[in-house]
Amino acid sequence: MADLKNKINKEKLPQHIAIIMDGNGRWAKKRGGIRIIGHRAGAKSVKNVAEASAELGVKYLTLYAFSTENWNRPKDEVSNLMELLIENLQKEIKTLLNNDISLNVIGDTSMLPDKVQKNLNKTIDETKHGKRMCLSLALSYSGRWDIIQACQTIAMKVKQKELNPEDIDQNMFVQYLSTMGMPDPELLIRTSGEKRISNYMIYQMAYTELYFTKTLWPDFSKNHLYKAILDFQTRERRFGKTSEQL
Ligand code: FPP
Repeated sequence: MADLKNKINKEKLPQHIAIIMDGNGRWAKKRGGIRIIGHRAGAKSVKNVAEASAELGVKYLTLYAFSTENWNRPKDEVSNLMELLIENLQKEIKTLLNNDISLNVIGDTSMLPDKVQKNLNKTIDETKHGKRMCLSLALSYSGRWDIIQACQTIAMKVKQKELNPEDIDQNMFVQYLSTMGMPDPELLIRTSGEKRISNYMIYQMAYTELYFTKTLWPDFSKNHLYKAILDFQTRERRFGKTSEQL
């Protein structure tokens, strides 16, 4: 493990890593367990990966923990996931503080149960001085929701004559997305073999490098993260230019 970590070029570290944590249900099924067992094991991977990212010097880690579409899952799975979230927020606040990590949330948090909102706000407030890394949880999040809520706010400001339509450009628009102030993700990791973006930060991921692995999220270790970063470091990021221009 130390070998892989040492191979990472610290100068070329992705500043922002986004992850679609997929495969908890299949992991549980393989073991003959119920789905929540997979989510519980997945929460351990969250801890490992957040720790590894902070240790390396990654500045932003954004995890897709619950999509807008996940509200359509069976009621008991949704409530189990909400309980798990509260449990982990309460349990891991010390880990966040000890590691100088600030917690952030992106998504339509008004949809979340009151108890979840309260615990999130408390953790966000208590960790707000964390400078080493910003850990964002995407909760009740979808990329289309994000774009639409930005448009609504901008439209309202235009209506109230606080903004002119001609002021709307890319630099301005991103300030209204829920990821305001963060650099775009440079690397997206999706576990479990699915090769989709699934309505994750679709505006922000215009130039993101995509990394897909068959590993199920509960099996995703620090070592798997190092591998993904090493793969990212072999990519030539051209942003529309030619190799020679870089
Ligand atoms: C996807 O696996 C996973 C989720 C929808 C939930 C992610 C939640 C966690 C990792 C647990 C807790 C999170 C925190 C932040 C403490 P799936 O259920 O879609 O798996 P499947 O595709 O195999 O059914």
